[in-house]
Amino acid sequence: MILAGGLATRLRPLTLVTNKHLLPVYNKPMIYYPMEVMKTLGIKEVLLSTSPDHSGEFTNLLGAGEQFNLKLYYAIQKNPKGGIAHAISLAKEFVSNDKLIVILGDNIFDGGVIKTAVKKFNKNSHGAMIFGVKIPTKTKQYGVIEVDKDGTVLSIEEKPEHPKSDIIQTGIYLYDHRVFDFIKKLKPSARGELEVTDLNNFYLKEGSLTCGFIDWWIDAGTSYDELLRANNLVAEKVTK
Ligand code: DAU
Repeated sequence: MILAGGLATRLRPLTLVTNKHLLPVYNKPMIYYPMEVMKTLGIKEVLLSTSPDHSGEFTNLLGAGEQFNLKLYYAIQKNPKGGIAHAISLAKEFVSNDKLIVILGDNIFDGGVIKTAVKKFNKNSHGAMIFGVKIPTKTKQYGVIEVDKDGTVLSIEEKPEHPKSDIIQTGIYLYDHRVFDFIKKLKPSARGELEVTDLNNFYLKEGSLTCGFIDWWIDAGTSYDELLRANNLVAEKVTK
């Protein structure tokens, strides 16, 4: 599943009349990057969730997914700020008893580096997996993962006032089908959203959450500066 809803208020006025995931990142619309990751992972069916206002633009751009060699389905998230976990709940029928990979539509990274982990996860009987990335300085902008020296997750906190580590939670999540039961138990956070971090904490408490690590990753939708950085980084990788 790829999430492409939300209001993207942090990028206004760029996002006043269009959806953030349609903005350019160097030579492609942002949404192409997670779509290409799905293709790299060999995933054959993808559900893309977006808001009612912009769904037509996505179907015009991506159609049924032919150019990515996969079948693309759409889900409409009527409440665009329901939260990441709320958007994931829309995949219940699509997933049935299978496993699910979720990628946030504004995340840019090399899909090849998670391929082995995804294959391995698919063989596991149950659980969830998240991916962390180490950043130069601690920040309270993201989910923050605290790990011990063996890489075992000790805690995950959403945008904490006092971050416990310099490892942030990326927008790549792998779940077993029980994810939908856990989402039903979630309560909206102080900002009124069903948080992915609360969801991941169900698996952490149960002892079935693992964490992989990646070298580079960018959330192109956090701010103008990150969007600019994403453009420059992709330009550098494409032209080198
Ligand atoms: O990018 C990584 C971060 O993503 C994580 O570190 C955080 O733990 C996680 O909560 C999330 O934080 P953000 O503040 O960056 O989330 P944002 O509101 O920007 O939404 C992330 C993506 O999900 C974006 O592509 C829009 C989409 N989205 C978001 C919401 C709230 C939806 O499709 N529906 C929604 O209701």
